[in-house]
Amino acid sequence: MRTHTRRAVLGAGLGLAGTGLLAACSSSGPARPGSSTGPFVSPGGPEVTAAERRRGSGPLRQVRLTATESTLDLGGPKVRSWSYDGRLPGRELRVTAGDTLEAVLVNHLPEPTTAHWHGLTLRNDMDGVPDVTQRAIAPGAQFTYRFTVPHPGTYWLHPHTGVQQDRGLYAPLIVEDPKEPLRYDREWVVVLDDWLDGVDGSTPDAVLSELSAGMPSGAPGGRGSARHGDSGSDGGTPDMSGAPDMTDMPGMGAMGTATRGPSRMLMGAASGLLGGDAGDVAYPYYLVNGRTADDPQTFTAKPGERLRVRIINAGGDTAFRVALGGHRMTVTHADGLPVAHTAADSLLLGMGERYDVLVTAGDGAYPLVALAEGKNAVARAVLRTATGEAPGKDVRPAELARPPLTAGRLRAAPSVALPARRPDTTVPLRLTGGMAGYDWGFNGEKYDPARRIALRSGDRVRLSFRNDTAMWHPVHLHGHAFALPNGGPRKDTAIVLPRRTLDVDFDADNPGLWMVHCHNVYHAESGMMTLLGYRR
Ligand code: C2O
Ligand code: CU
Repeated sequence: MRTHTRRAVLGAGLGLAGTGLLAACSSSGPARPGSSTGPFVSPGGPEVTAAERRRGSGPLRQVRLTATESTLDLGGPKVRSWSYDGRLPGRELRVTAGDTLEAVLVNHLPEPTTAHWHGLTLRNDMDGVPDVTQRAIAPGAQFTYRFTVPHPGTYWLHPHTGVQQDRGLYAPLIVEDPKEPLRYDREWVVVLDDWLDGVDGSTPDAVLSELSAGMPSGAPGGRGSARHGDSGSDGGTPDMSGAPDMTDMPGMGAMGTATRGPSRMLMGAASGLLGGDAGDVAYPYYLVNGRTADDPQTFTAKPGERLRVRIINAGGDTAFRVALGGHRMTVTHADGLPVAHTAADSLLLGMGERYDVLVTAGDGAYPLVALAEGKNAVARAVLRTATGEAPGKDVRPAELARPPLTAGRLRAAPSVALPARRPDTTVPLRLTGGMAGYDWGFNGEKYDPARRIALRSGDRVRLSFRNDTAMWHPVHLHGHAFALPNGGPRKDTAIVLPRRTLDVDFDADNPGLWMVHCHNVYHAESGMMTLLGYRR
């Protein structure tokens, strides 16, 4: 971690001054064997501006977010962590498709940060990827994100710097449809998370360090070597061993990243649904809307009302299996976009995935349970439409035991189905690496921001994910919604099971430099990220 923090700070200090330099980087980064050299569209380039102009610009919606260290009450346990405005989840942002969102992000953290608008097909220079689409926001500084919000749906935001997403830095972003076709009485936004930050001295950075040291960790004091820093976001700045230790900076204190806490490495978490190994990290808590199962959120409604439930997995390393006791759900949207309505008893969500469902509320008090898949623990909330006893903390609804619906069983709604077309280009992306070396990557290589996979604007592109690892990965594409095979849903995040291949198609219609990565934050940060670059 030390290395990482230091570099991130240095990177910000050395300053990629403004878009000009970023643009220069994007076309003249160091050539590597097998890399495509530019010229690529730059994030602030004329192609990006032109694409944004085509989106139009509706009413201006202004928000201000402050990323800050604060004490969070998880419904019992209180932790020091990082969050937006001291709230967990961060305050819901609600806009209407077509609006212009202007979000000022003020950084009161001791590290640089960014905001990424997960799932939005927005303009490239507002995508929040440090050293690619913007310079990370230095401590004490602020940045204004301003873009047209393209589509209605359920989205969320989180930083794209290091493993900050596994702290409390996330918030739902709900984009309303000015011509909403669904009818419902109430809306419930359900944000799922796995939590360890600030518990017994744990931090996500210490966990990354522990995992990066390889397994088994056993011996305390065997801190991760600097090797995880190889995948730092600045793309290979030499390690400045003599540089001042930024972990000693004010504000890092006892909850700082120098604290390691107990081992959080998880071995042998198994899930048939996920094809074996369920995760790398043992979390002490699992949360629905920032609350542990001991003190759950209660959502109230009237019997017979139709509820739209928007479920978001904001976890770092946990898939959740979700069910609402006593109810069948009708799935209406996957990752924000409409699907042919499909009934489900339970749903499986990898990190970064979202589903919208409709339910007709029964008469009583019902548990909404999110089982941490393969980890034998639950997060929960309560739906209440009548007085009476709340469901017990250990209740596991029968619906949870039935096979959960997964994305492959859904079909895109006709309004968003990708028209049939043979791909013009296929990008093979082998998922590689493992727990032993903690060397996750694509095609055997760690993330390098100077390396881009070239795309041609207008092409139908196929990403062919082949999972050569022993673990599942939720792969995520920025700036586009790909289609799952055979009329499957349009999504931005999809689970690839071990030893399986998943082909997803999209049209290259949003110029820029776009990430593809695993949404396991520890896999991503240790190297399972890559960049697609539109040729100019
Ligand atoms: Cu949710 Cu690249 O991120
Ligand atoms: Cu992964």
